[in-house]
Amino acid sequence: MTQQKKQTVVRKKIAKTFGSASRSYDVSARLQRFSGKHLMPWLPNRNDLTVLDLGSGTGFFTDLLAGSYKKVIGLDFSKEMLHFAAQARDKDISWIEADAHKIPLQDNSIDLIYSNLVIQWCEPLDVAVDEMLRVLKPGGLIIFTTLVDGTLHELKSSWKQVDDDQHVIDFKTEAELAEFFNHDRASVIEHKCQDIVLEYQNVIHLARELKGLGANHLPKKRNRGLSGKDKWFAMTEHYQDFLEPNGIYPATYRLYSGLVVKRNN
Ligand SMILES: C[S@@+](CC[C@H](N)C(=O)[O-])C[C@H]1O[C@@H](n2cnc3c(N)ncnc32)[C@H](O)[C@@H]1O
Repeated sequence: MTQQKKQTVVRKKIAKTFGSASRSYDVSARLQRFSGKHLMPWLPNRNDLTVLDLGSGTGFFTDLLAGSYKKVIGLDFSKEMLHFAAQARDKDISWIEADAHKIPLQDNSIDLIYSNLVIQWCEPLDVAVDEMLRVLKPGGLIIFTTLVDGTLHELKSSWKQVDDDQHVIDFKTEAELAEFFNHDRASVIEHKCQDIVLEYQNVIHLARELKGLGANHLPKKRNRGLSGKDKWFAMTEHYQDFLEPNGIYPATYRLYSGLVVKRNN
């Protein structure tokens, strides 16, 4: 199988994982809500824009954007997410089922791309960024969040003491990410990187939330069955090293937010 075909197979699996989470997603989306909202101050203050919400999920933010802009498009590769969104959200929004690596929109047709917690799933990311810059008008903006290296470090290091399998997806470093958006076609105007620490009653609570978010697809995981009970127990024992004095389990999400402009050349 060619590398490209393998990547398409992986993406179909990710879409399926998100799809099966579409109904439980809005209730377990604490991080998504926080990160999506804190992008709001970067949104342009004029309403005659055509906006693409890339990886729109259940359409929560697509709906907010539709309240401010002339034309809003929600794009996602999960049929189930789109189905949920189309039922629940503003009827004027256009929904497109497509992959961020092959956006079915014309060159230079979009003023603003908003994308909340999506591009950590895009592999290869340069192809998705090329597509974003192709559909964006010169001078157009990309306003996005993603997770970078350091995310779920507690879970990663607890598992590391048990086995060497993949239990947490590989996140890019902040420097690697900046390179995708800083070159002759685009530049990062502003960015922020911050640790958001969410609290969980126990590790099962954390695992359920990650599952509810559809974030449990691990391309490099070798043992695809359930981790053995013993392994799971050993991991939770190690996780206790991070326990807060009040008995709460913390999980860190390193959130990168960027405001990018497509150059005029
Ligand atoms: C973590 S959710 C975020 C959803 C939404 N942006 C929000 O803030 O509520 C990620 C979404 O991105 C979609 N997604 C991931 N990779 C994608 C890709 N390559 N093309 C299109 N959609 C993608 C998933 O199906 C999922 O709905």
